[in-house]
Amino acid sequence: MRLSFQEASESCSCVIVMVSKRGLNKKNASSALVRLNENLMQEKIFQAEKGESLFLPYSRIGKSKHLLLVGLGDAEQVDGEGFRQAAGVAYRNLESNSIPNAELDLSMCFFNSEKPSSLVRALTEGFMLAHYNFLDLKEKQKNKKSVKNIFFTGVAPSKELKAGLEEGKVLSKSTNFARFLADSPSNLMTPVVLAQEVQNKFRGVKGVKVSVWNKERIKKEKMGGVLGVSAGSSQEPRVIIIEYKGTGQNSVKKNKSLCFVGKGLTFDSGGISLKPAKNMDEMKFDMCGSVAVIGALLAIAHLKLKVDVIGLIGASENMPGAAAIKPGDVLTARNGKTMEVLNTDAEGRLVLADILSFASEQNPEFIVDVATLTGAMNYSLGNIYTGVFTRSQKMKEQIISAAENSGEKVWPLPLNDFHVKDIKSKVADVANISSTGLAGSSTAAAFLEHFVNKSIPWVHLDIAGTANDVSSRLPYCRPKSASGVMVRTFVELARQYVR
Ligand code: BES
Ligand code: MG
Ligand code: ZN
Repeated sequence: MRLSFQEASESCSCVIVMVSKRGLNKKNASSALVRLNENLMQEKIFQAEKGESLFLPYSRIGKSKHLLLVGLGDAEQVDGEGFRQAAGVAYRNLESNSIPNAELDLSMCFFNSEKPSSLVRALTEGFMLAHYNFLDLKEKQKNKKSVKNIFFTGVAPSKELKAGLEEGKVLSKSTNFARFLADSPSNLMTPVVLAQEVQNKFRGVKGVKVSVWNKERIKKEKMGGVLGVSAGSSQEPRVIIIEYKGTGQNSVKKNKSLCFVGKGLTFDSGGISLKPAKNMDEMKFDMCGSVAVIGALLAIAHLKLKVDVIGLIGASENMPGAAAIKPGDVLTARNGKTMEVLNTDAEGRLVLADILSFASEQNPEFIVDVATLTGAMNYSLGNIYTGVFTRSQKMKEQIISAAENSGEKVWPLPLNDFHVKDIKSKVADVANISSTGLAGSSTAAAFLEHFVNKSIPWVHLDIAGTANDVSSRLPYCRPKSASGVMVRTFVELARQYVR
């Protein structure tokens, strides 16, 4: 699909008009369109509610054959995310009506004091994120009619607007790549393949270096958690290191890197503590933390942000093979701490223990880890809010502000000494499940805390609820598909460190 600016000269098959509950932005609308919309709203055929759309074929308003009305809800409340979702709704409607080309008159989109570049960026993201579809493995669907062109019309494409379009494209392409990795079935996206995909994707990207550690190297690096979790699988684990240098070599002060850590379980069967069969296929999404890190680094590098960033990924399968770790086993993490494995299904934290230890050794500005860590997130925050766990007030505020700018939703949950107490072990330094079985998401965070150097600001993000199957809430996502959550928020967070 192509998105571009176009002078409103050529005729297009469909014109998209975004309407608030107050009505059209009359200034720039033709009187015929204003009258039609007023009638539709009066008759309650179209009420401009958020998420609502109405396709009117052959209405021939202006030069276009068809008209697509999209609701924005209350005019005073519509923000970037409102426009992102409205673009998603528009895309879904065009798709179901097999409309290949459409134009959107931007001059009719200004209701509040939106920054024009941010508006274009949000709309671009909405269209492109909605366009993504994992069809690689469906021969007949590959050529399915999808939207081919979206034209932005009604405004002169200033330098600023063009920048908004380009930014939106980078953000959505990076998110869609992250989604593709996670949507790929686990037999095709093993840790080895994931590492290769990362190497291929970053080849030639300016300022980026990718290193991949194989099993032998992981052993040398004393990563007992990664080795333990992968022991029951025929697939070798990988540790993936993505380094981006966006600050100048000759800058006077040595810059500390921002560090993102991702859980990359390409499949989580639970291991010997095997999961039930129902919905186990969803465990191919257990690598969604790692793809958020990959997508964020891709976007940050392509946007050429003036920051240094390290992305660290622990990639493994969790399987119940003959060599698998067993309940009661004790593993030693990279920082020397011992971990009692009371449940082999609490494997993400065992992998992250090593990667967080390694991250701490890099002495970064901060560490943010992201993981589909606990099923309990689905009960506490559902499929919209990502859980934020941190003892750093500053980091908490930064993450919340980054998420406000990206349109993704985050919510703080507690992490305190009670949770640390709950995760104590009788035989090792820490147990991998809590003794009470309560507050599963917080005790998981308390486990991870053992592996982060206390002097480094650290945030843990649990995306177990938000990583996939969010289409019931977000029109630019698809059912049974990865959301690519946190790619955009990480980019916003990195922006806060640009000097
Ligand atoms: N990958 C799962 C968490 C998960 C569950 C993500 C459902 C998305 C949907 C994780 O490895 C896991 O199995 N966690 C256990 C921890 C428990 C054994 C303490 C869980 O949440 O049940
Ligand atoms: Mg598990
Ligand atoms: Zn898992």
